[in-house]
Parts: sequence; C-alpha cells; structure tokens
Amino acid sequence: MRLPASQVAVIEAASAEEAQTIDQLASATGEKPETVTGAAFDLEADGLVSIEEAAEESVELTDEGQEYLDDGLPEVRLYESALELGADDEPVSMGQVIGASGLDGAAVDIALSNYARKGYGVIESGEITADPDADPAADAEAAALAAVEAGDAASVDDDTLDQLDHRGLVDRSERTVRSVQLTDDGVTALMEGVEAAETVDRLTPELLTSGEWESVEFTEYNVEADAPEYGGGKEHILRQTANRVKDVLVGMGFQEMEGPHVDADFWINDCLFMPQDHPARTHWDRFAMDEPREIDELPPDLVERVERAHREGVGEHGDGYHSPWDEDFARALALRGHTTSLSTRYLSGEQVGELEPPQRYFSVEKVYRNDTLDPTHLLEFFQIEGWVMAEDLSVRDLMGTFEEFYAQFGITDIEFKPHYNPYTEPSFELFGTHPETGELIEIGNSGIFREEMLEPLGVECDVMAWGLALERLLMLIYGFEDIRDVHGTLCDLELLRETEVMY
Ligand code: PHE
Repeated sequence: MRLPASQVAVIEAASAEEAQTIDQLASATGEKPETVTGAAFDLEADGLVSIEEAAEESVELTDEGQEYLDDGLPEVRLYESALELGADDEPVSMGQVIGASGLDGAAVDIALSNYARKGYGVIESGEITADPDADPAADAEAAALAAVEAGDAASVDDDTLDQLDHRGLVDRSERTVRSVQLTDDGVTALMEGVEAAETVDRLTPELLTSGEWESVEFTEYNVEADAPEYGGGKEHILRQTANRVKDVLVGMGFQEMEGPHVDADFWINDCLFMPQDHPARTHWDRFAMDEPREIDELPPDLVERVERAHREGVGEHGDGYHSPWDEDFARALALRGHTTSLSTRYLSGEQVGELEPPQRYFSVEKVYRNDTLDPTHLLEFFQIEGWVMAEDLSVRDLMGTFEEFYAQFGITDIEFKPHYNPYTEPSFELFGTHPETGELIEIGNSGIFREEMLEPLGVECDVMAWGLALERLLMLIYGFEDIRDVHGTLCDLELLRETEVMY
C-alpha cells in the first residue's frame, strides 16, 4: 500500500496493543504534532487506525506564580520576617515586618490578605503576631506551585488548585488529547507492507515552472486538524445580532427609522399621551440635558393638537387628564428612554412627511434609562422598536408578527402577558424562556396605539407597535445570564471571542 510519507511514519509508529497520544507519536516520528494529527485522521478515514479523544486539563504557572515559586509566597516571606523580629513572642508593628520582608507594591496587600487566611498569625491594629506552630514548609499552595512547575498538577487537590487559580498564579485550560491505535486492518496493511508515496502539500512556483505539478500527488486538506488560534478582532455579538435583526425586519417588509438620541420630551412622552405629571417624567429614570436644555422648535399645529388631547381627551367622550400641560415642559431635552420617540416623529409626518397606510417601520437603536445596575439592567441598552400602520389591526396581528420575528432566531415559545402603557390599549408584555436557567424573562413590551395618541398625530388607521430589548434576545439566543457579560468593562471576553454566529 502506498501512503503519504507522514502517514507511513504514523502507521509504523502506532501500535495495536496500546493507544499512543499525538505527542508521543510526534516524538517517535520526529513529525510536528499538527502533521501527526492530520496523518492520523487520514489513516482513520481509511480504517487503518482508531482515534480516541479525551479532554485534558493543562495547568501552567503564570508569571506571578513563577515569581512566587522562585522567591517564596508573599505571605510566607512576611511570616519569616515576622518570626525573625520575634512576632511569635509579642506583636511587632506592621511597617517593621513589611520593611524587613522586602515586599513592596501589590505584594504587600497580597501578603497581608493571605497571612491570616492561612493561619500564619494575626494582623490587628497595625501589628502582626506570628503563630509559632505555623509551618511554611507545609504550605499547600507553595507545594502546589512546585508540583505545577514539575508538570504534576494532577497531584494537587482541587481546593488548592482553585485557590491558585483564584489568586491568578496558574492558568488552566482544557485541551483535547487524541490517542491513536492500530486497527486490525492497519495491522494487515503493515504486514503486507506500506511504502511512502511522494506527496506535496503546497504548490510552489518551481512546481509550476517545471511542469512537475502535473505528476505529483497532493496532500488532502484536513479541516478537522488542530490549528493555531488567532485572537483577532471581530464584530461584537451585539452588533452582529443587531444587524441580523435589521435583516430579518427588512425581510418582513419594514423600513428603518432614524432620529436623535437626545430629543424633546414632546417626542419622547407628550406625543405618546403621557401626562406631564406622570412619575416617569419627573423622576429619577430620565437623563435630562443641561446644555442645551430645550429644543428650538416644535411644530405649532401638532403642539396644539397634542395639548388638546392631554387637556380634553379625544373624541366625543374624551376626558383627558385635566392635569397641567406646558409647552416649555415639552421642549425640555433628554436622552431618549425609548425609541418610541422615533415612532412619534415618523407617525406625525415630522420626519418623512405624511404616511399613507399600509406602512411598516423599525429601528434598532440605543435608549438610556437611569436604572439601578443589575444582571438584567444597564443604563443604556438597545431597543428593537417597530410599528405597523394598517386598517383593522388586531391583537392576533401583533402576536403573529412576534411569532414570525422570533422564529427567525429559533425562538418559538414566546408568551404574552396583559400589561399597561399610557399610550397603548390593549398592551402586552412578551416573555421568553432562558435556555440555561429555564426562567421566564421579559423581552419586550407592545400594544395597539390609543386613539388619544394617534388622533393628534393625524393618523386615521390602526397602528400596532412594540419595543423589544436586543440584549434579552441575545440572552435567549446565546444563553448568558448577565447583561454585563456583553456590555461594559466587566464583559466576558471569552464569550465575545468564542460565541459562534448562529443563523
Ligand atoms: N416604549 C415601550 C417601552 O420602552 C415599548 C412600546 C413601544 C410599547 C410601542 C408599546 C408600543 O417599554
């Protein structure tokens, strides 16, 4: 049997009695591990060897871990100096012990915080005592550092290893270890004799000019072989998902809205029939602008109609809020707390002129809320805003639209809960099931715009609308639990690097 040279080397080095790892085969054959892996996969495809995979944890010292292995753990150095200064007899001032230990910078804090934890003594009121019975030679963490250095991390108990990991003294990573063993067919092939066929793994100018390329045998591509990882830049999964949402909505016939992040309260609230004394408007959850404080101009006719709706209501039986309505109040600028401000701008004709039904519009844009930070709330997030303007819309249209939208992301178990918004009737909150925790999480808010909102804007047919949280959609797709994993300084780089695009 003729095989490429690397496969011949591997099959000859492999044994039928015991499995050998890729590393063992690499040193036996003198080939690179990547080459051995590739050859082994090819041999496996031909049924000549079998490959087993196992996950193996590898543990290595970090630079800091290496330093402590060489110079001693900071807490041990502190203890030794404390002993020298007689702190086993009576307390010695902290400054003196630290000075004698030669520790400085961050190592001082590290020494102090581990000293008591590990029973080397007590630190109190600026003084250190040393426990005469403590034994640095028996320090489990120091011994573990040495074991890791010697490649014997397996002998270290889990708690100690966790502790070293927690202190940043070791790096742990998982890798796949493959072991190769000859199959019966492999043994037969070997007995019948294998010889190396010349194969070429890349096309060179020489092969081309000499014409040799026509007769050589090319190595096959193996897309499963281990390859070095490159941590290059890539698009953030939030941006990827935002773009996907845009594609999906455009595919559903929607056009994109745009508009200011800082806007007049008029567009953010008044046009939505939100009374000016509504708690959300005077309260903490709004980011007001200092400079400029107010918008220059509002469309006077619209202002008049909106004011009338607020004061008197709309229609024959309209009642209105009877609460004060002040144009100056409506002019105040704030960071938008929802992108429904874009919807009011578009629906009123302010942004792109009068719109004739049917119309569908959306935006995927940032909104700002002065919330308390927690795993599901940030001061800013992305809202997927949208609305459909048409004759005779019903709740079924609204639900059907969401089902169609979320199904594009593989989410088919959306639940609806009746809700209240000053500007929609009926209103619904949307919930989805978190794939990891199984909990229902709120993913959006929606409804059919009220007459009191639409009439002043000059809209005569039905409009159904929503604001969905992009980050919550991301949680349902990717299963992370804390919004801070994808936003801000605490974000989980590993998650961002390794999350695969899902389509
Ligand atoms: N503005 C609402 C929010 O931010 C979302 C919404 C938009 C609800 C349109 C109904 C209609 O929660």
